[in-house]
Amino acid sequence: MKVFQLQDDWSIDNLTLTERPQPKPGPGQLLLQMKAASMNYRDILVPQRGYGALTGTLPLIPVSDGVGEVITIGEGVRRVVVGDHVCPLMIQSWISGPPTMERLSSTLGGPLDGVMAEYMVLNEQGVVKIPDHLSNEEAATLPCAALTAWSAIVTDGQVSAGDNVLVQGTGGVSLFALQFAKLHGAHVIVTSSSDEKQQRAINLGADKGINYLSTPEWGKEVKHMTGANGVDLIIEVGGQKTLPQSLRAIRAGGTIYLIGVLSGLNMDVSLGQVVTRKVRLQGISVGNRDGMEAMMRAISQHSMKPVIDRTFAFEELREAPNYLARSGHFGKVCINY
Ligand SMILES: NC(=O)c1ccc[n+]([C@@H]2O[C@H](COP(=O)([O-])OP(=O)(O)OC[C@H]3O[C@@H](n4cnc5c(N)ncnc54)[C@H](OP(=O)(O)O)[C@@H]3O)[C@@H](O)[C@H]2O)c1
Repeated sequence: MKVFQLQDDWSIDNLTLTERPQPKPGPGQLLLQMKAASMNYRDILVPQRGYGALTGTLPLIPVSDGVGEVITIGEGVRRVVVGDHVCPLMIQSWISGPPTMERLSSTLGGPLDGVMAEYMVLNEQGVVKIPDHLSNEEAATLPCAALTAWSAIVTDGQVSAGDNVLVQGTGGVSLFALQFAKLHGAHVIVTSSSDEKQQRAINLGADKGINYLSTPEWGKEVKHMTGANGVDLIIEVGGQKTLPQSLRAIRAGGTIYLIGVLSGLNMDVSLGQVVTRKVRLQGISVGNRDGMEAMMRAISQHSMKPVIDRTFAFEELREAPNYLARSGHFGKVCINY
């Protein structure tokens, strides 16, 4: 079967299209014929060994998110049947309950082989059926970006009607967070570097937008938009350069979900703003299978469609990370097999 793998050096230039023997499912396992994948910011970092030892060893098949059709099942498999279309869980061993380091290190696309292969063998516990109304490409966007947004907005954040939510940027995680927050009746403010993307987010349901380049002190603007209170919940994907503004924009007692570090990892924080206003800074790490199944039910119930910016062919994998890194996209970047 055809696979892309990082051969013998950590670099995107070292992504090689090659052949591996087709795997066979054992008891409790299934064989998937992969149909589509989607890219995450993580897939830019992994080829550069961006997660250190957690990235795994070479050779490595990259990319965590995809969809496949079940074509063979091993003895004793009960959760799926031949013909089902399923998403592999990004974190294969995190089924339920809280995260542990052991669970968190079972991630596809590093350290475990990822989805850039024609066929994959997985444990039946490590997959979730996709909603009927979604195409393979649309469903391939769900395991990382959508579940991360669901964990922050719903599982942990418990957003409800009338809450004020702020999402940063118009990438994969933030547009899913916008869609889930609107499903739960929240008022949503989106920040973006582009007026055009801001308008597209408003067309998708956002209530207000702020251009964070022309309004660098956007925290103040958010206070103004929310009657001086600030928002209840922030989807923080910027990190170093955006957190100071988020600390101005959050209401007393509100929660900032620390999800990404697109503008840098290290910073000085004014801790007084956190302590005296009882602000919660909460890390998010994707989510577990229980969360993924709850999210799939909500997506089906509301016939929700993920936003896809562009699709590359399987053979064009090397171009996709560069496209993502340029930040011109709105929503998700996919790969068709
Ligand atoms: N913790 C987790 O479990 C988890 C899961 C998934 C992703 N992540 C992380 O979350 C981040 C976003 O992931 P993604 O897949 O949504 O990325 P993405 O699709 O590449 O989206 C990035 C978008 O964020 C906006 N952005 C970029 N730099 C920014 C800045 N300095 N300030 C504010 N917004 C900025 C841009 O939107 P505009 O073009 O509109 O400005 C850009 O298009 C990444 O750091 C990723 O590693 C973490």
